[in-house]
Amino acid sequence: MEIRVEENPAAVVADMLVEAAERGSHIVLTGGSTPKLAYELAAGKGANWSGSTVWFSDERCVPPESGLSNFRMATDALLGRIMRDQRPAVMRMQGELGPDAGAAAYEADVREQLGGSPRWDLVLLGLGPDAHCASLFPGKPEVEERQRLVTGVELAGMEPQVPRISLTLPAINGARKVVFLITGKDKAKAVARAFGDAPDPVSPAARVRLSAGELVILLDEAAAGGLK
Ligand code: 6PG
Repeated sequence: MEIRVEENPAAVVADMLVEAAERGSHIVLTGGSTPKLAYELAAGKGANWSGSTVWFSDERCVPPESGLSNFRMATDALLGRIMRDQRPAVMRMQGELGPDAGAAAYEADVREQLGGSPRWDLVLLGLGPDAHCASLFPGKPEVEERQRLVTGVELAGMEPQVPRISLTLPAINGARKVVFLITGKDKAKAVARAFGDAPDPVSPAARVRLSAGELVILLDEAAAGGLK
C-alpha cells in the first residue's frame, strides 16, 4: 500500500483516469462528491476513451437521471463531456431495478465481460466518514460477502438513505490497481482507521487489500491529518 499526500489529489486522479482510458482499460468509477472535480479535470483533457470500458463501484437505487445517482454525477462531470465518437463503453449499475435485481444484473454483466475473477485495470474509490467504501458499510452483512461480485444493500449506513448496489470486497480486491481519493479534514479519522498503523478490521476500507495489485491512497494534507 502506498500513501501519497498531494497538493491536488484530484489532478493526480484525472491523469490516472486519462492514462488508463487511452490504454483501453476497464475502469471503475465511484460516486459521492469527492471525485467530481477529478472527473471534470479528466474531461478537460480531451482524451480518447473509445477503447475503454467504464464500470461503477456502487450506485444508489434511484433512476439514472436522479440527482442522487452516481451514474448521473459521472455523466455530468465526465462521460457526457467526452466527444461523442470518443466515449467509452459504459456499464452502469441499474439502480432503478432495486438492490437485488440490480445487483444480479450487474453481476451477470461483469461475469459475461470479465469472467468470475475480474481484474479491473483501475478502480477508483472514496472513503466515507465511517470508513465505508463503495456501498459497503461497517458492520453490515454485505462486507462479509465471499461469493458474489456484486451485492444489493437494502440498508445504507449513511445518507442518502436509499438502498444501494455495490461491488463486493472479493471483486474489488482482484483489481490490478485501486486508488482511494480522499480529501478534507472530516475524513482524517476514517483515514487513520482504515489506513493507519493499526487498521480497524470493522472498517470496510481497511479490508481493501489487493490479492495481486497496487493499492494507492491519495490524500490531501487535511485528510492525512490523523496519520503519524
Ligand atoms: C456513494 C459512494 C461512497 C463514497 C463515499 C465518499 O455512492 O456514496 O460511492 O462510497 O465514495 O461515501 O463520499 P464523498 O466523496 O461524498 O464524501
